Amino acid sequence: MQLNGKVALITGAASGIGKEIAIVYAKAGASVAIADINLDAAQKTADEIKAAGGKAIGVAMDVTNEEAVNAGTKAVVDAFGQLDILISNAGIQIVNPIINYSFADWKKMQAIHVDGAFLTTKAALRYMYKDKRGGTVIYMGSVHSHEASPLKSAYVAAKHALLGLARVLAKEGAEYNVRSHVICPGFVRTPLVDKQIPEQAKELGISEEEVVRRVMLGGTVDGVFTTVDDVAQTALFLAAFPSAALTGQSFIVSHGWYMQ
Ligand code: NAI
Repeated sequence: MQLNGKVALITGAASGIGKEIAIVYAKAGASVAIADINLDAAQKTADEIKAAGGKAIGVAMDVTNEEAVNAGTKAVVDAFGQLDILISNAGIQIVNPIINYSFADWKKMQAIHVDGAFLTTKAALRYMYKDKRGGTVIYMGSVHSHEASPLKSAYVAAKHALLGLARVLAKEGAEYNVRSHVICPGFVRTPLVDKQIPEQAKELGISEEEVVRRVMLGGTVDGVFTTVDDVAQTALFLAAFPSAALTGQSFIVSHGWYMQ
């Protein structure tokens, strides 16, 4: 029970990586808030965690909307009394070559990944800075926080930006006992990835099997997908780590696809 007594707000937690982090955190003793734009799915995830004996609530939150972020964060503190861990994880993917990338899609990507990270951080810090009680903020980056791939200009730019935000927060937050990190997964089979397989096959003119074997797993040491549990266990380790010896770091979880 490494997170006993802790409260975690996890965005995009109705699905995929965020959902698994919520499940693992709840098993480790944390009270978890499943914050998602899809409230029905968030409630369902919270109900599953409660049925398994954990403490959870579903919270409606569009991370691009400042009022919604502030109201959702306040609802978590009203429900659980405090906020110790923020996982800024909500995300989408839109693939297209730069020449065809619409400005509207570019802005949508920055809004969810970068604005969302900023707004949720700012809202969480109001509680974490109070009396220097501190906390941990973890951004869901990607191997694409360090590496580039064709078709992903907006995603790669947004995921690189999270490294900068995390490093500034590590420095500003230190005196308030707030730490920050970026977790950088390789490809994980979630709805976000399943949707891109046919899209990338079409854009690159290759088969779906080749997208998986060459594009997604070609750079790994073993041809194996990263799992939601690999990422959740990393998030657990970072949230439970006892000192600021680890802060402002990025942790790559990618079967050796990218090595720092
Ligand atoms: P997913 O599609 O399974 O889950 C994303 C969740 O975010 C969904 O529940 C969705 O409703 C929610 N969401 C979307 N827009 C939102 C908004 N504006 N406000 C609040 N919630 C919103 O995706 P997955 O794969 O679990 O991705 C989670 C994070 O992990 C994303 O930031 C993604 O970029 C990152 N990531 C994913 C990788 C993968 O291979 N699946 C690899 C590296 C990073």
